[in-house]
Parts: sequence; structure tokens; C-alpha cells
Amino acid sequence: MPRPKSDQPRSQFANIRFTAAEHEELEAQAASNGFKSISDYIRHLHQQSMLAQEASVSRTYEPVGDLTLFHKTRYGSMYLGNSLRYTLDKAKPASVDLIMTSPPFGLVRKKTYGNEDADQYCEWFRPFAEGFKRVLKDEGSLVIDIGGAWKPGTPTRSLYHYELLVMLCREFGFHLCLEHFWWNPAKLPTPAEWVNVRRVRVKDAVNCVWWLSKTPWPKASNRRVLAKYSDSMQSLLKNGYQARLRPSGHDISDKFQKDNGGAVPPNLLAIANTDSNSSYQEYCRKNNIAIHPARFPAQLPEYFIRMLTDPGDNILDPFGGSCMTGYVAESLGRHWTCVELEEEYLQGAKGRFISNVQPINGREVSYSISVPCANAKDAPEVPLIVDGGRARPKPQVPQ
Ligand SMILES: C[S@@+](CC[C@H](N)C(=O)[O-])C[C@H]1O[C@@H](n2cnc3c(N)ncnc32)[C@H](O)[C@@H]1O
Repeated sequence: MPRPKSDQPRSQFANIRFTAAEHEELEAQAASNGFKSISDYIRHLHQQSMLAQEASVSRTYEPVGDLTLFHKTRYGSMYLGNSLRYTLDKAKPASVDLIMTSPPFGLVRKKTYGNEDADQYCEWFRPFAEGFKRVLKDEGSLVIDIGGAWKPGTPTRSLYHYELLVMLCREFGFHLCLEHFWWNPAKLPTPAEWVNVRRVRVKDAVNCVWWLSKTPWPKASNRRVLAKYSDSMQSLLKNGYQARLRPSGHDISDKFQKDNGGAVPPNLLAIANTDSNSSYQEYCRKNNIAIHPARFPAQLPEYFIRMLTDPGDNILDPFGGSCMTGYVAESLGRHWTCVELEEEYLQGAKGRFISNVQPINGREVSYSISVPCANAKDAPEVPLIVDGGRARPKPQVPQ
């Protein structure tokens, strides 16, 4: 019997050329997956990819939990509860100019293979991402400070924060404006086991800070966050510069002699997080309230708030903690909302607003970082640890 005519005949051609190796590979994959031909196999792959896209696009997320107004200040509000309730329900769509936040870091746990921790983190984050997209204005920015994590038991790192970045861009359509790295010069060398004992890794001293936006054109000005000119630039501005070609081939013309009021900072933000004596901590100690263990240094939100918002704009921190974002926003005359799950953290945060909000200080500080290898040593004086640190070195017996 002749085959019945399909109502969707395959009348279009796509001519794809493969290398011999690709062709062989595709044929083998098609056969091992039960397909008669490479084209059936490609059709199947395409359907799978469309289904996956559909699943991610059509998923809706429910706002969860209650939200109560905990405290109000001149410019801001602290809410106690789940920020999913705020971003997916209470807040007006497209009402926020800047989301400045630091979510709880990676959920890394023991496992035998794969990057399950990263998958779990992304799965947990998806509803928040949906909420962020809902509340952010087109010209607004989303800034996420996120630290890396070590996989338990090995000197290797989780990919969770990179997976998060890829997910936010690929699945939710955010644009990566510029990744920043927050270098904390006071960070201790951890984990001591890999850094100090087995000596197979160096100090991890940066957090990633993903600056994202809904469109490629969020409002911004780097003139708001200029740094002090270096000593050499200051003397160049004072004494002039002989225009010439640099070894890199760049033509350093006399336009470099113009005083623009400060240097455009790099995307490496040097901010020590050493504050142990602030009025916030004093307030917490006096009132027997737990001090938040992962507070922003004020200069981190300050940098993004200044560069990306105007006075009167709306700033949201959906993982509010001790409300440092709110504090900085208040001091700069921006409206703010912080949402936090733990009541005790908000009790402490309230202490930030009891007396007048002080302007932020500490901008005059600068840190130097040494060029590596100043004390370099080579074999045979320092042999490599050839097992990669698998075996713990035996403690040295004093001679
Ligand atoms: C890394 S801390 C943020 C600290 C904050 N940047 C500061 O300067 O104090 C993350 C905070 O998010 C809170 N959190 C976690 N899940 C939340 C949720 N669904 N809604 C609101 N807050 C949440 C945690 O209780 C924690 O205090």
C-alpha cells in the first residue's frame, strides 16, 4: 500500500556539510539512539531543544510566604519575609532602578561526580530571577555579588556562580554589562588545607560581582565613581607628557594630559571588609542581637548606587541581611526596599537608622598588591607537589 500523503510534507532542504569525522560521529550517535538516519537524529535534537526552551519560558513561579513591613525610614522600607512575595506579587512591575544584592552563596555538598551543586543553585535561583525581571525597569541594573565555593574534599571549585550568570543571560535574557571582581585585601588564606598545609592553591580573595541589565543600555555614568589619579598620572598632568608611541603600539597623544577629575576605575574593586567596630555592631552587641555574618562593606553598594542611579530612584535588596544597601541608599537620598527572611537580622539592621545616617568614609584608603614571583623559587630548591596534594604532608619534625 502506498504511504499516505502527509499534511506537512518535508519539502524544504537544508544542505549541511560535515567533516568525515563529524559524519562518522553523527551516524554512530544516531544509530546508538535508535534513529535510522542522521536527519531523524537532528530533527530529534531540535525538538528536544525547543521543548527545553518552552519549558523554561512558560514556567511560572508562585510568590511564597507573607511579607510584613518591619521598619520605615525617610527613604526606605524593610520587609520581613520572602522576597519572592515582594518581587512576584507586591512590587509594581518595572518599578526598580537598581537591584543591588548578595544572595546566600553556593549550596555545595558532597557528591561523587558532576556539578549538581551548580544545578541545584540555579534551580533555587530561577524564581528570584523571574521576580527580578518583573520588577526591574528597562534602563535599570541588576548587581549580584557572589562568592565562589570549594567542592568538599578536593582542591577544586564549584561552577555554580558561573552557571548562575549563564542562566541569567541565556534563560532570562539579562545582558552582562561588565563583570566586576571585589578584592578583599583582608581575606584570610582559606581553605587552609589547600593553601597553607598542602600548598597547592593560592588565596581566593575575590568575589564575582555580576552587573547585568534588561537591555544592553542601562543608565550609567563612570564619571560618578572616578578614583584618585595615581601619583604618576598626577605628575603627568602637572609636568606634561611627551606624546609618543607606546611599546604596545598605542599612540599616547596629548589628550591623555587632560584632567578629567579622576581616573576611571578598573573592574577590580579593592575594598577591605574589616569593619569590626561600627555603630551597627555596637548596637547589636548592646541589644544581644546576632551580628550578620556576611555584610557588605558600604563602599560596594555605594559604587553601584552612584554609578547606576539618581537621587530619588528606587533600589531593592531582595536578600537584605543587615540592610547595608538600604543604609547606603538612605545616605545618598535614594528610595530603597530591603527584604529579609530572618527577623533577627532586621532587628540589627534597624540599629543602622537610629541615629542620623552618616556619609560613607574610607574612600581615601588605597591598597597595594605585590607583583607575584618577587620571592620566586624553582626546582630543585622547591619541588612541585607531584601528587597534586592528594597526600597530606607529614608534619616537619624540628631538627
Ligand atoms: C549574603 S546575605 C546578605 C547580606 C547583606 N548584603 C548585608 O550587607 O548584610 C543573604 C541574606 O539573604 C537572606 N535570604 C535568604 N533567602 C531569602 C529570601 N527568600 N527572601 C529574603 N531574604 C532571604 C538570608 O537570611 C541572608 O541574611
